Amino acid sequence: MDDEIPAHITQIIRAAVAAPSGDNSQPWHFVYRAPGTIEFHAHPEKDHPMFNVDDSGTLIALGAAVENASLEARALGYQPTISVSVAEPGSLAATLQLAPGGDISADDASLQEVIHHRVSNRKAYANRSFDNMHRQALLQEVNSVPGVSFLLLEDRDAMRRTARNLTNMERIALSYKKVHHLFFAGIFWSDERNEAGEPGLHIKTLELPPPAQALFRILRHWKVAQALARIGFPNFVAKTNAAQNASASALGCVTSPTLDAKAYFNTGRLLERLWLRSTALGMSFQVVTGLLFLTRHMEREGDVTIFSAQDVAHSQETYKNIGAAFGVGANHPVITFRVGYGKPPTRRSQRMAPVIEVVHS
Ligand SMILES: Cc1cc2nc3c(=O)[nH]c(=O)nc-3n(C[C@H](O)[C@H](O)[C@H](O)COP(=O)(O)O)c2cc1C
Repeated sequence: MDDEIPAHITQIIRAAVAAPSGDNSQPWHFVYRAPGTIEFHAHPEKDHPMFNVDDSGTLIALGAAVENASLEARALGYQPTISVSVAEPGSLAATLQLAPGGDISADDASLQEVIHHRVSNRKAYANRSFDNMHRQALLQEVNSVPGVSFLLLEDRDAMRRTARNLTNMERIALSYKKVHHLFFAGIFWSDERNEAGEPGLHIKTLELPPPAQALFRILRHWKVAQALARIGFPNFVAKTNAAQNASASALGCVTSPTLDAKAYFNTGRLLERLWLRSTALGMSFQVVTGLLFLTRHMEREGDVTIFSAQDVAHSQETYKNIGAAFGVGANHPVITFRVGYGKPPTRRSQRMAPVIEVVHS
């Protein structure tokens, strides 16, 4: 990194890039304007268009990054002002203006402390309900970000049904050549690539049991996947993953009255706060949202050239079922996740060193 960049700016940007992004795409770069401005620029081309209607995935990642940066800045004694410029998706997404004299509440400090510990945990969880204190602590976040909110689903039967609806995604991923290709293009087996922080997911972060890991190597080949699809393999995977997702204490859903750039950005901020809160409480967390994103893409594109009319209709039905199970009412289910008690993940996705451009005003 550049000598001209003050240490606190570097520290804030490092906190920003610890944020989650779809398939660890890291769809951002930063501009530092002395003395105290950090710009967050969006790179939607790094996220796959099939899961990025209106740059939604990119903006959620940017929102999470800005939330981290804001917590880090306050912990360092700065007062950050966030302005969102999402009118132009694809370029400048947000600006963080730092003034001296800020502070951080003890509660927010507990979130800032775990920014670099937050991680996706795709293992099976312990199949038990929340401790009461943990539930209360999560629910504290309900109004923490303007314009968006979230709901938790804890009823075991409703969780099982909803998890099954969500894993309709796996069935589709293994049944269509184009989705299969993009799913496997994002997975790598090399430790070096993970250590270098390359976008994509190391196979070990998927937490597959050893026989499934071996199978995955050959499943990469479409002809193998196609042959297995004929004997109902995608359905089997979807069912197995649904049981795993239902082993959480709750499924969660961030909701918004609108689906626009600001709503996606704020969803990212709230998602990150919930994830950090869960981490601080010793809980595990995984975003499980492909189905919602893909269905919005199907609706937008009328994608009957790729997907069968039956699968489009089925995805729309599962999308509605998911919203209804959470009781979203007139709101939209923006992103879904699971949270619970799990053993630590086997492997963590690393990050590339952030690109920081320095501009002298
Ligand atoms: C918009 C968005 C969508 C995501 N969708 C999924 C998902 O459907 N399944 C999943 O396991 N992880 C999902 N993730 C988590 C990312 O894969 C994860 O954050 C990224 O690989 C970095 O790893 P980390 O969270 O361990 O730091 C999503 C994250 C974001 C921001």
